[in-house]
Amino acid sequence: MIKDPNSLLSAIEALALDNEPELKLAHMLNALSAIKQEIPSSAWVGIYLKTDGKLILGPFQGTPACESIRFDKGVVGVCYSQGKTLVVPDVTKFPGYISCDPIAAQEVCVPMCVNGETVAVFDVDYPAGNPIADDAETLEKAAALLAKLL
Ligand code: SME
Repeated sequence: MIKDPNSLLSAIEALALDNEPELKLAHMLNALSAIKQEIPSSAWVGIYLKTDGKLILGPFQGTPACESIRFDKGVVGVCYSQGKTLVVPDVTKFPGYISCDPIAAQEVCVPMCVNGETVAVFDVDYPAGNPIADDAETLEKAAALLAKLL
């Protein structure tokens, strides 16, 4: 659950709209750190980047994660392929789920678009028992802002 969605989005917006090319990665890392802090229940927060034929691990906050995901695999791959937000309250019920951390039991994935094209997937993992659907709208807004830093 996000503690204060408006203040989180304001903080991300300030980073995303800062037009300083050499600070884009630093801004992305600080934005992901802010998201992780503002969702104390989150287990992992990060981004998978679309590359030639697959999605590869990008900036993240949390434990080491799988580095390469096919477009037809996992919540991340399906989110990319379908081009829509996926809210998965129980990952054991998601066919092809990719487990990177035994703590993760729920997941929200949001496509990140640049010029109308999905170029990355924003991924948040949670332990069991969180009302993750409540976070989805804020995470979609966050993903749109973070896309400006790609
Ligand atoms: N669980 C994801 C894989 C990435 S991790 O959550 C960091 C999936 O099923 O695509």
